[in-house]
Amino acid sequence: MTTTGIASLGLALPSRYLDVRDLAALRGVDPDKFTKGLGCHEIALLGEGEDVVTLAASAAERALARWGGSPKDLGLVAVGTETAQDMSRPLSAFVADAIGLRGAYRSYETKHACYGGTVALRQALEWKASGAARGKAALVIASDVALYAPKDPGEPTQGAGAVAFIVDDASVAEVDLESHAWAEPAFDFWRPVGESFPRVDGPLSLACYETATTECFRQLAGGRPLADVLEGFAALCFHVPFPKMVKKGVMKLGEAQGWDEGATSALFESKVMPTMEWNRRTGNSYTAALWTSVAKALAGAASGTRVAAFSYGSGFGSELLTLTAGPAAAAGAWVADVEGDLARRERIDADTYLAYRGA
Ligand code: CAA
Repeated sequence: MTTTGIASLGLALPSRYLDVRDLAALRGVDPDKFTKGLGCHEIALLGEGEDVVTLAASAAERALARWGGSPKDLGLVAVGTETAQDMSRPLSAFVADAIGLRGAYRSYETKHACYGGTVALRQALEWKASGAARGKAALVIASDVALYAPKDPGEPTQGAGAVAFIVDDASVAEVDLESHAWAEPAFDFWRPVGESFPRVDGPLSLACYETATTECFRQLAGGRPLADVLEGFAALCFHVPFPKMVKKGVMKLGEAQGWDEGATSALFESKVMPTMEWNRRTGNSYTAALWTSVAKALAGAASGTRVAAFSYGSGFGSELLTLTAGPAAAAGAWVADVEGDLARRERIDADTYLAYRGA
């Protein structure tokens, strides 16, 4: 197989979680607001000794272990994150330290809020397709720990996780080189230098996300009826800040297209909702959130199955990618990463969460 794409996937989740109903009780909020109003269920939280680097390193080791190549075949290592450890040293260097990489490869970190991982993946795919890779492969990782200030409205949407890709042949999925981007400068969600938690304009972030969705899918349609184009896709994956937000984006898309509300809801239930099963267990993992959804959609997919992936990063930048499942998707080897991590993790209670957050 010579086509460029995703040759291997690995995922990693942290070892603890909080049920949002426990958070609701702690904060004196009706639990239905978090579960029904926002669509949130569980918040993945770091355990002892875990951080954005250990998550990224685990995902990378898992992707490398199920790939046919070896680290000396890598010509590029890129990490997309908004949980930077340093203003200068890239997260890719921290990960290389953790998993013992060194050699003839390009190493860097990309940043564009939750879109940063997609940027790294796109660059790796384009590097391969350009011929500059000269037969080498790329290791790309999206890794984040999403925490808001205690009692912030975003607290129930917190989460963490990492997804790693080997960009080489298209065993897992071919990614179309043509994609559909849309960007506009906005302050919808940002974290000033030196501050620990993001600042968020919630209503603006929703408006930006809806604009990005509408614009990217309009480009995908390319003048054809979008409903006809989407019939060719078995799954539509979105960046998942929290599931209700994705539903709002899809409903807005339907409104812009003049679809009947019931038809848009049916599309959401059949092609979008199933892709968020793992996201509901992790919470928002920023750069990794979309790719967790894509990994879910590809797992068990027959070769040739088409999947769309809409990436959104505050600030804001967005891009709609289209993928075709390859021969290794049906076996979905990476399901073991998620199921194993979910089975092993510990549920913490509100008091432990309070001690962890300090408030
Ligand atoms: N039972 C059922 N539903 C209830 C309820 C109850 N008792 N109480 C409230 N609700 C519903 C509300 O009606 C509302 O539903 P609709 O939106 O459908 O009307 C929903 O719960 C949320 O209620 P509020 O709007 O009052 O919630 P809030 O203001 O407390 O917080 C938020 C919402 C601003 C989005 C907050 O979750 C937040 O700040 N999140 C972080 C920012 C974020 O995730 N933005 C997303 C895009 S930015 C991005 O993409 C980057 C990224 O990943 C972060």
